[in-house]
Amino acid sequence: MRIGQAADLVVVAPATADVLARAAHGLADDLLTNTLLTARCPVVFAPAMHTEMWEHAATTANVATLRERGALVIEPAEGRLTGKDTGKGRLPEPAEIFDACREVLAQHLAGRGTPGALDLAGRHVVVSAGGTREYLDPVRFLGNRSSGLQGYALARAAAARGAEVTLVAANTSLPDPAGVKVVRVETTAQLRHEVVSAAAAADAVVMAAAPADFRPVAPSDSKIKKAADGSAPAIELTQNPDILRELSSERLRAGQMVVGFAAETGDETGSVLDLARAKLARKGCDLLVVNDVSGGAVFGSAENEAVILAADGSSVAVPRGSKSALAHVIWDQVATRLQD
Ligand code: CTP
Repeated sequence: MRIGQAADLVVVAPATADVLARAAHGLADDLLTNTLLTARCPVVFAPAMHTEMWEHAATTANVATLRERGALVIEPAEGRLTGKDTGKGRLPEPAEIFDACREVLAQHLAGRGTPGALDLAGRHVVVSAGGTREYLDPVRFLGNRSSGLQGYALARAAAARGAEVTLVAANTSLPDPAGVKVVRVETTAQLRHEVVSAAAAADAVVMAAAPADFRPVAPSDSKIKKAADGSAPAIELTQNPDILRELSSERLRAGQMVVGFAAETGDETGSVLDLARAKLARKGCDLLVVNDVSGGAVFGSAENEAVILAADGSSVAVPRGSKSALAHVIWDQVATRLQD
């Protein structure tokens, strides 16, 4: 009993279908369930079981009960299971479970939500991350410096707050965050397709990715050769669709929040914030997270600082800190604006 009472966080990994059922029904006839029933801290379950068990109506109901009570039940990963079968039900990587636990604990200590209420529980969010590539030929592409770290931090933070998260990741080499559905893409057209199809069921879409604005009109099927006369090929480009603008104007679901990012450097036409206000209006999104990237400071860095501009005219300055801290402030802003 004392173990549960004294705990700051209880993590059950792996959580079998049996443990989920026993926890949901409040059994307390062994040390584990006794600990769960006496704990007053956040509780994280990392389920691992055969796909059939995970998908069974009994497990679905038990998971829903535990989530309603404020526990974080991480979505299992897909892949090889303990037997010969593969599918959904795999335990996420331990490092990713650890990160999820750290997020939950940090959020709890920051006083966000209570163990009885994860503020994004029952919400579905879509986050895009990374930088798209537009191929000139099979080996060369136009790309950009986005690492995907901020988008991954957003996905992790939303999952820790109870959301069902789809992460559309362009050319990243980061591990899949625990409990997050990761869809991998390369080009802006693929990113658009995946974000738009996931957005149909989403309460919020955050475009943290850096989609390439242009693509070659006619990519070559074979590697472009150097010309003998030393001349360089002319590559004609065409503009890619603006996904953020499309999401903002079409609103694929009623009440959906659309969040954009703006990497700005001030110039002679205006300051970073002037340009960002104009971009917020042009894109039509609800929130715009503005980074001052003069000097390239943000790319690949573990830290970030930003100003979050809202379409209602308000703004929140987020001081320099981890990308996870910024992610949580962004979700705070989204959560307070989501309708019931
Ligand atoms: N974005 C998008 N689709 C694109 C390009 C950008 O959805 N083809 C999104 C990014 O994910 C980001 C936001 O738009 O959330 C800002 O991107 P940015 O490249 O800074 O905008 P610009 O292309 O500079 O906008 P404009 O050319 O209108 O100034």
